[in-house]
Amino acid sequence: METISSTKTIFLLQIWILLNVSSTFAHSQFPTFRKLQLPSRVVGPESVAFDKKGDGPYTGVADGRIVKYEGPKIGFTDFAKTSPNRTKTKCDGKNGPELQQICGRPFGLGFYYKTGDLYITDAFYGLVVVGPSGGLVTRVPSFQGRNFAFLDALDIDQSKGVVYFVDSGAIFLTGNRTRVAESRDTSGRLFKYDIGTKQVTLLLSGLSGPIGVALSKDNSYVLITEYITQRIQRFWLKGAKANSSDVFANVDGIPDNIKSTVLGDFWVAISNTKQPTTFSLGQRINRFGKVVETCNFTDQYNSPNGITEVQEYKGKLYVGSLDQNFVGVSRV
Ligand SMILES: *[C@@H]1O[C@H](CO)[C@@H](O)[C@H](O)[C@H]1NC(C)=O
Ligand SMILES: *[C@@H]1O[C@H](CO)[C@@H](O)[C@H](O)[C@H]1NC(C)=O
Ligand SMILES: *[C@@H]1O[C@H](CO)[C@@H](O)[C@H](O)[C@H]1NC(C)=O
Ligand SMILES: *[C@@H]1O[C@H](CO)[C@@H](O)[C@H](O)[C@H]1NC(C)=O
Repeated sequence: METISSTKTIFLLQIWILLNVSSTFAHSQFPTFRKLQLPSRVVGPESVAFDKKGDGPYTGVADGRIVKYEGPKIGFTDFAKTSPNRTKTKCDGKNGPELQQICGRPFGLGFYYKTGDLYITDAFYGLVVVGPSGGLVTRVPSFQGRNFAFLDALDIDQSKGVVYFVDSGAIFLTGNRTRVAESRDTSGRLFKYDIGTKQVTLLLSGLSGPIGVALSKDNSYVLITEYITQRIQRFWLKGAKANSSDVFANVDGIPDNIKSTVLGDFWVAISNTKQPTTFSLGQRINRFGKVVETCNFTDQYNSPNGITEVQEYKGKLYVGSLDQNFVGVSRV
């Protein structure tokens, strides 16, 4: 009897410790923050992706390359490029916005597991795709309407082979985020690309600086973050509300990329770039639009642009930015 009850006591004690420790960590800075260092003078890993085998992360950087992380010994190596005119001499390590029209600026990345192809949204080169061994991308057939102005994020429906992506609007070409935030631009659009039929379809227009997109776990809707209105819109793909949109959540700060988790929540990267209260937070939002966890990356990202992405992958959080020379990693 005594052994059983003391085992029980120890068990309850363990639960008690677990609950208290996890509630402490649910709103704290990560003691385990690590940096996956990019090559020298290379900055701006805006978003990350992992291939079907779980290799990576892959990320698009400011000098136009897509690089792949090959472990701590090798670091990042060149994987793909979005611009046919990109040369290493002209572009490597050059981060000025003027050169990005020649060198490319890949933002959104996502693998389609069935073929192993990597789909990329490049601000200047549109929606492009590259095979599993990388190299130069090929362009996806263009949209038969108003040209893309500035493509940013994407997400892929693996079961149907559909890529959802956003055009943020030409205001983003100014490269001045204050100007973007102060504008009332509503030229942003949501599209889908059907990999099977090779058709691009406009789903929603009138968006205010859409820069993030994530598909729900049951594929019934996509969420779109809006930079200018600081909110998250939901576009319904299925059910009675199909083809209509509503406001999913308002955000306290500027939302950037949004990424779904395996359990059906979403991580949103949120920053405030206005002095003196700059901050960079990752917020996990559940399917009811409620914030259920906040991770504070302000101290690790002391930069004018804050963070661009928080993505959960196999128990870790990967953090992107526009101006740092590393991909941040911390434990969930
Ligand atoms: C690539 O360079 C050639 C020659 O300099 C130019 O004609 C062409 O427009 C460029 N293409 C792109 C996509 O910038
Ligand atoms: C960015 O835009 C803001 C508002 O329009 C302006 O005050 C600022 O000078 C601009 N910054 C640069 C670097 O052009
Ligand atoms: C939504 O739009 C698609 C075409 O874009 C159409 O095939 C479908 O029937 C529409 N669904 C509803 C519920 O309106
Ligand atoms: C995040 O951390 C910064 C710097 O340590 C702090 O000033 C800020 O209040 C924190 N924000 C939240 C929401 O925890």
